[in-house]
Amino acid sequence: MNKPMHMLLTGTLLVSALLSVAANAAGTTIDVYKSSTCKCCAKWVDHMRAHGFTVNTHDVGNKEAREQAGIPTTLGSCHTALVDGYAIEGHVPAQDVKRFLSERPRAIGLTAPGMPHGSPGMEGARSDPYDVLLINKQGDTTVYSRHLPSDPKESVMKLK
Ligand code: CU
Ligand code: CU
Repeated sequence: MNKPMHMLLTGTLLVSALLSVAANAAGTTIDVYKSSTCKCCAKWVDHMRAHGFTVNTHDVGNKEAREQAGIPTTLGSCHTALVDGYAIEGHVPAQDVKRFLSERPRAIGLTAPGMPHGSPGMEGARSDPYDVLLINKQGDTTVYSRHLPSDPKESVMKLK
């Protein structure tokens, strides 16, 4: 193969690899701190893997990770995930995490406080509306996305 052709192919492969990373978060590694016995945490991990994330789990609880990230316990949930310098607390949907990572705001991260029924990993008979909050560097929050149980396909309202 002559050189220009080879470089063209390499370039094409590189571009398509970058595009696929942007599109589906493949290769984005996320570290999840949780307890070994937490069932809904394991289900959220499955949800993230199903959406292309590479997930490392640490079964040491999430109290320390949450504290170090600067997330107050009032905004806390059952697990804390660290990704790209951000913290993701609780059952935040993968599509919110992807949008957040593509926007890269100045912030601590996202949280779905408590354990909202019907959020990823918390599926069951009951489904409640819930908000995903953005936590800024001061620890204040704004609503990042709103999730309504009625129609799962149309349930995400982007507020920005
Ligand atoms: Cu949970
Ligand atoms: Cu959890």
